[in-house]
Amino acid sequence: MQILGIETSCDETAAAVVADGRRVRSSVVSSQVDLHARYGGVVPEIASRAHVEIVNDVIEQALVEAGVTLRDIDAVAAVHGPGLAGALLVGVSAAKAIALAIDRPYVGVNHHEAHMYAALLEDPGLEPPFVTLVVSGGHTLLIAMDDHGKYRVLGRTVDDAAGEAFDKVARFLGLGYPGGPAIDRLARQGDPKAIAFPRPMLDDGNDFSFSGLKTAVVLYMRKHPDAEVADVAASFQAAVVDVLVTKLLRVAEQTEMQTIVIGGGVAANSALRERLVEEGETSGLRIMLPSIGLCTDNAAMVASVAWWRLAADGPTSLAGGAYPSLRIG
Ligand code: KG4
Ligand code: ZN
Repeated sequence: MQILGIETSCDETAAAVVADGRRVRSSVVSSQVDLHARYGGVVPEIASRAHVEIVNDVIEQALVEAGVTLRDIDAVAAVHGPGLAGALLVGVSAAKAIALAIDRPYVGVNHHEAHMYAALLEDPGLEPPFVTLVVSGGHTLLIAMDDHGKYRVLGRTVDDAAGEAFDKVARFLGLGYPGGPAIDRLARQGDPKAIAFPRPMLDDGNDFSFSGLKTAVVLYMRKHPDAEVADVAASFQAAVVDVLVTKLLRVAEQTEMQTIVIGGGVAANSALRERLVEEGETSGLRIMLPSIGLCTDNAAMVASVAWWRLAADGPTSLAGGAYPSLRIG
C-alpha cells in the first residue's frame, strides 16, 4: 500500500511516498528558511503563502521521484496538527482534494506522532514498546509508546521548547535563524565546560523548563561581554543536552523500557546524539537515532504513521479540519 504524505505544519513544505509504512520511495522537502531568516523566526502569514505557492510542485516531485502517478496512490495523508493554522490548512486542503479526486482515503496525522515514527523508517525491526523524546521548535515531550497508537505523555516543557531555546539564544548571540544548527556548529569550537549554566528542573520530575536557562545566557553575556561566543554556545548546548538525556534515561528506568527513540529537529543535534550513543554503550539500552533528514520536518514520517493509523482507525472524515493545538496521548 503506497501512501502520499504531506507536511506543511510550520516552515517546511514536504511530500513523500512511503510503501507499507516502512519503505521510503521518495521524500521531498522544500525549506522556507531563507524567507523567514531576516525576521529571526517563522512569520505565519509568509509561511502559509509560501506553502500555497509550492505545495503542488513538491507533491508532483515526490510522485516523480517515487516513479508513480496518483493512480498508484492508495491513501493521502497530511499533518492536521499541531502547528500554524494557516500553514496546516494548506497541506490538509491539498491532501483532501487529492483524496477526493482519486477516490482514496484521507488520513489526518498528528505531527508529534509522525516524529515518533521517523525511527521506524530507518529500522525495520523496531517495534514498541519504547520511550521517545520528541524535541522540536514547538515541543519537548517524553512519551511512552506502549504499542502503535498507545501513548502516555510522561513529561513536557512548562515554558519554552528546547528548540525554541536554541533559536532564542542563537538570536541573542547574533548567530541567525534557525538557531539550533548554528549553535551546534559553533559549539564544536567551544568548551562545553567553560561556563556552568543551570540544569533547570534536573531532579524535579519529568517535566522540562528552558526559559530560565535562556535568561542565564543573557545575564552571563551582560556580565561578560567579551566572553568567547563558542564557549557560551557549547556550555548552553551542554546544559540542554544534560537535562534532556538525564530525564530520558530516568523515564526509561521508571517504565522499565529497553529501547529509546528520539525525533524532532533538536534530535539532529550532534552533542545530543553523541551523548546518547555513549549512554547506550554503558547502559545497554538500545538507542534509535533517526538520520538528520528524518529528525527535522519531513513527509516520509507522515506517510509512515498514516499507514498505521489507517489500519487501526480507518480514514479521517473529509469534514475534518486543521487543529493547531492538537495533543497526543
Ligand atoms: O521538528 P522541527 O524541524 O520543526 C518543528 O516541528 O518545530 O524542529 C525545528 C527545531 C528548531 O528550533 C531548530 O533550531 C532545531 O529544531 N534544530 C536543532 C538542530 N537542527 C534543528 N537544534 C539543535 N541542534 C541542531 N542540529
Ligand atoms: Zn517537527
